[in-house]
Amino acid sequence: MKLELRDITKRFGSLVANDHISLTVEPGEIHCLLGENGAGKSTLMNVLYGLYQADEGEILLDEAVQHFGGPGDAMRAGIGMVHQHFMLVPVFTVAENVMLGHEPTTFGGRLDLAGARKRVREISDRFGFDVDPDAVVEDLPVGVQQRVEIIKALSRQAAVLVFDEPTAVLTPQETDELMGIMRQLRDAGTAIVFITHKLREVREVADRITVIRLGRVVGEAAPTASNADLAALMVGRAVELVVDKTSAQPGPEALVVSDVTVADQNGHRLVDHVSFAVRRGEILAIAGVQGNGQTELTEAILGLEAVQSGSITLDGQELTGASVKRVLDAGVGFVPEDRQEDGLVGEFTIAENLILDRSGSSEFSGAGTVRARVRDRFADEKIAEFDIRTPNRTTAVGRLSGGNQQKVVIARELSRTLRLFVAAQPTRGIDVGSIEFVHKRIVAARDEGVPVIVVSTELDEVVALADRIAVMYRGQIVGIVPADTPRDVLGLMMAGERPAGTERAA
Ligand SMILES: Nc1ncnc2c1ncn2[C@@H]1O[C@H](COP(=O)(O)OP(=O)(O)OP(=O)(O)O)[C@@H](O)[C@H]1O
Ligand SMILES: [Mg+2]
Repeated sequence: MKLELRDITKRFGSLVANDHISLTVEPGEIHCLLGENGAGKSTLMNVLYGLYQADEGEILLDEAVQHFGGPGDAMRAGIGMVHQHFMLVPVFTVAENVMLGHEPTTFGGRLDLAGARKRVREISDRFGFDVDPDAVVEDLPVGVQQRVEIIKALSRQAAVLVFDEPTAVLTPQETDELMGIMRQLRDAGTAIVFITHKLREVREVADRITVIRLGRVVGEAAPTASNADLAALMVGRAVELVVDKTSAQPGPEALVVSDVTVADQNGHRLVDHVSFAVRRGEILAIAGVQGNGQTELTEAILGLEAVQSGSITLDGQELTGASVKRVLDAGVGFVPEDRQEDGLVGEFTIAENLILDRSGSSEFSGAGTVRARVRDRFADEKIAEFDIRTPNRTTAVGRLSGGNQQKVVIARELSRTLRLFVAAQPTRGIDVGSIEFVHKRIVAARDEGVPVIVVSTELDEVVALADRIAVMYRGQIVGIVPADTPRDVLGLMMAGERPAGTERAA
């Protein structure tokens, strides 16, 4: 089915999120939508999916004008969507969530759970997703929730499929699988819209590329365009894709993790006797395929996860078993992997979110209005400094575009007095221009002497930032190697192979 968006305009108050956007997607085409954070990509797709009503413009399917009062109408018309911000019901199982996207199929209009369960299994098997149909969604890590969204969209055999940043939380292998799936669907005649900030993915699958900036279409690009060209078109200026940094001048050991073990309820070791140290003024990157204990390790450092054995100290101060509050008060900045779950309160304003756990501190509380003014000034500064695209500081964080939400977390955490900075997937969902900025800020923190841990499943990011690289596999550190270690060696380590000539993590 051919999709045509004609002159779509969508306003939120005075903000024009989509300004007369026109876009055509042919059947059998993967059309990539590129643009910086807040450019209006998700808004446009939410209009298409019936979640928002356009103020102006038309949606046409095979030349026929559509009127979608809600997602149900869009689904019935053959449109499927994988959302950037998951639309899953957290307390329902995977199968129940998949079933919700379908019409009742059994007699009496009852929903068909057995059928949904079967469908989940089939699609999981077909695409190599390891998803249990009976798992409760809120218990699943974000990466798996993403797969559930994908399964849900694929299970309807839509003629038009929208993928809004599906790869942000997938492993490289899963990303490759998904791109394979998109190609198969395309070859079978599906019209596909694919949104991503990863230029490699764009060049790999795009048949056509449309770039939007500030709510308008600013151009088309060929899939053969270089990263630098695509980046410049998106952001409107040249972007440094790899940030220049001098070599580290590491000071004394600051964070010392010795023989730390974290286990789940069944006694299964998620972090298995891990030891390493991070010195002041260096960036230790932790690489690995998602799900190999990186999350639990950072959560153990932050006091979010109980440490079964071993110890964690910062500048000689014992942090093992400390509460999250104590860890944060000790000067640890933390960018969590799942910003919506752990990093932000969606209904709170940007200003409130920027001081979330410090709102009770003397800096921001006390003499009433005076402090409110301090807070507001602080918020305005951070909004400017981190280029957070928002109408103003009183906007609820949940209303921001995905990448701009991430910038709020980064801005807050980099703005405290830091004795340690722990960033998990710091640039997830962030556009290339802002990645450049965030990377520069992380390097700047290092250069001020802060010890930094960056956890990233993106090898590009690991290589760009690291002074040393620790690779995790099945809860263990396979090795700690220099930043200039060849990527193929890192790849082997990520699959569990110990590199020749390196000692086991000491
Ligand atoms: N429900 C809403 N209410 C008010 N403003 C909104 C709402 N949804 C989106 N916006 C605003 O519209 C603009 C476009 O946001 P959108 O989510 O479409 O960006 P995006 O291109 O998807 O960005 P990202 O790459 O960060 O996901 C942003 O300025 C955002 O704050
Ligand atoms: Mg978006």
